[in-house]
Amino acid sequence: MSVSIPHGGTLINRWNPDYPLDEASKTIELSKAELSDLELIGTGAYSPLTGFLTKADYDAVVETMRLADGTVWSIPITLAVTEEKAKELAVGDKAKLVYNGDVYGVIEIADMYRPDKTKEATFVYKTDELAHPGVRKLFEKPDVYVGGEVTLVKRTDKGPFAAFYFDPAETRKRFAELGWNTVVGFQTRNPVHRAHEYIQKCALEIVDGLFLNPLVGETKADDIPADIRMESYQVLLENYYPKDRVFLGVFQAAMRYAGPREAIFHAMVRKNFGCTHFIVGRDHAGVGNYYGTYDAQKIFSNFTAEELGITPLFFEHSFYCTKCEGMASTKTCPHDAEYHVVLSGTKVREMLRNGQVPPSTFSRPEVAAVLIKGLQQREAVTPSTR
Ligand code: ADX
Repeated sequence: MSVSIPHGGTLINRWNPDYPLDEASKTIELSKAELSDLELIGTGAYSPLTGFLTKADYDAVVETMRLADGTVWSIPITLAVTEEKAKELAVGDKAKLVYNGDVYGVIEIADMYRPDKTKEATFVYKTDELAHPGVRKLFEKPDVYVGGEVTLVKRTDKGPFAAFYFDPAETRKRFAELGWNTVVGFQTRNPVHRAHEYIQKCALEIVDGLFLNPLVGETKADDIPADIRMESYQVLLENYYPKDRVFLGVFQAAMRYAGPREAIFHAMVRKNFGCTHFIVGRDHAGVGNYYGTYDAQKIFSNFTAEELGITPLFFEHSFYCTKCEGMASTKTCPHDAEYHVVLSGTKVREMLRNGQVPPSTFSRPEVAAVLIKGLQQREAVTPSTR
């Protein structure tokens, strides 16, 4: 039997709707990504973090992929304010954390510092090119970071897919109720195509349950919107997965596209949600050609199994082979590339946007139908500039 212990040992809970807001005299506006980070800290998804990183933790995370106390943590979770705003704030202040006029939390300011963004980019993203979407976001942020513990006082509106949002305490309870001792987490920012399905099902052969955990926070503009993807996941599960062995719940964080570093972060968060295993396939969380195909797997060797506390399951590039007449990878298929059905993400998105159905060896027809319909409706509302 395998048990998932939250990262750092305890599931953090920083939720307090009764927090005395009049104690917080200052105000900080959050970006959308910071708002999702606040809620994820508050509910324990980012355990052991209790707030936005202070300088000591930030430096340690950037340079060593660990918090100052040595705990594995690979992505800086930061709150940024402008120089002008920083002049109003001081260490020791409590500030309300506001988004669109609503107060979602409070930070007790423990630290204010100016990051070296070029260094952060080079260490975390392995590039400082602005063409990288994560690096661009980093440089667009204001220049002063504010660190300190937070309290979550209001939950965000979850919209039409509210039923698929679960806090880590809830997923842990549900997995236990389902009798799952071992649970594999699957991160995705894409529709689930045949290759994704294949590696999930390979994993399902050796664990009790699958936590399909699509990221629905901010993604880059050409990724398929989360609401369209949500429908595609449901139709896929309905038609092709055993109902009692899959649990669909969303991950509300923003995508960083930090490749290897983000794979470690994704694994730690899924551990907090109660997973014992985590899938890392080809170019996990990658973008363009910034990372090697298996860099996101290799990075795990920097840490011991005890430090990670979740077992990564690595998968080779998978595809349908017309000669094998089934899904395979280079580990299992001896045939030449000409027999492999491989389509780039860009190519598939282009096909779907043009109403073209990708082959059923690449994507389930029910999934393709939902995506085509969703994308065409979206185009009708906001015509693309193509
Ligand atoms: S990600 O940015 O969220 O990682 P994506 O949704 O495409 O992107 O991938 C989800 C997971 O499936 C990642 O672990 C990724 O490495 C893996 N993956 C995607 N496509 C393949 C494939 N063809 N073969 C093997 N693994 C894959």
